[in-house]
Amino acid sequence: MNDDNSSKDIGDRFQLETKYQRGKLPRHFLDRDNKPKLYKDYENPIDVISIPEPDFNNEAKLMEILASRRSRRNYDLQKPLELKVLSTLLWATQGATEKLDTQFGHLFLRTAPSAGALYPIETYLNVRLVAGLEPGIYHFRPHYFDLELLKKGDYSEEFSLAALNQKMVRSAQVTFVWTAVVERSKWKYLQRAYRYIYLDCGHIGQNLYLAAEALQLGCCTIGAIFDEEANKLIDDVDGINETVVYMATVGLFR
Ligand SMILES: Cc1cc2nc3c(=O)[nH]c(=O)nc-3n(C[C@H](O)[C@H](O)[C@H](O)COP(=O)(O)O)c2cc1C
Repeated sequence: MNDDNSSKDIGDRFQLETKYQRGKLPRHFLDRDNKPKLYKDYENPIDVISIPEPDFNNEAKLMEILASRRSRRNYDLQKPLELKVLSTLLWATQGATEKLDTQFGHLFLRTAPSAGALYPIETYLNVRLVAGLEPGIYHFRPHYFDLELLKKGDYSEEFSLAALNQKMVRSAQVTFVWTAVVERSKWKYLQRAYRYIYLDCGHIGQNLYLAAEALQLGCCTIGAIFDEEANKLIDDVDGINETVVYMATVGLFR
């Protein structure tokens, strides 16, 4: 293999330069005393809202859900999503399913897998029409199973523009916005962390697709994003330490 990658484009170089090769694994001291925090809490959210227990009584069969899942982009503009349904979707994507005691303190394992159990993905919601929740931008905390209200108001138009003007964001009852806190993964995996961050987020997205299908909701993930426009909509997301990686609309069928 030619070791000079400088003439290649950045994606090609990234793929080559983050390969694990026998005998050439990156040498790296894992600084256990400075493991980044796995959970994010805002200092001054406008409000903290507890959400209902998820609804586990769903008769849908996994194989049928897998067979019928589609990306669905047309939603009812008027009907609100029930808060319990939203809570079930949040649980499906990032719900804590087991608590472990580790040398670093408590660790919550979740519905979706994560490389090294480092959980770099944070979940934000743009709420347009959910019964019992005022429109706004919220941050989901899996460690408390609650929502922090960060900004009041309907930002569907702004998120739609940030998603290359995709119209479905304007009519979705709720849009999930996933960011990565890069240092959580880099602490262990260095530059290879970026591969794992995207894989982690893909798992979360698929969990949302499957849960939405089981609940007879429409869902469509979004990778086409003007990154900086989306980052700027969320407090304390600077595009470097924490950056938007993926979004997904959820809505009731029209
Ligand atoms: C990484 C990724 C990014 C995507 N981005 C978008 C998007 O920006 N807009 C959109 O309408 N669909 C998007 N989709 C959905 C795909 O278009 C869809 O999965 C594909 O057409 C196959 O259709 P299906 O999901 O109904 O099986 C994305 C899917 C993935 C996995």
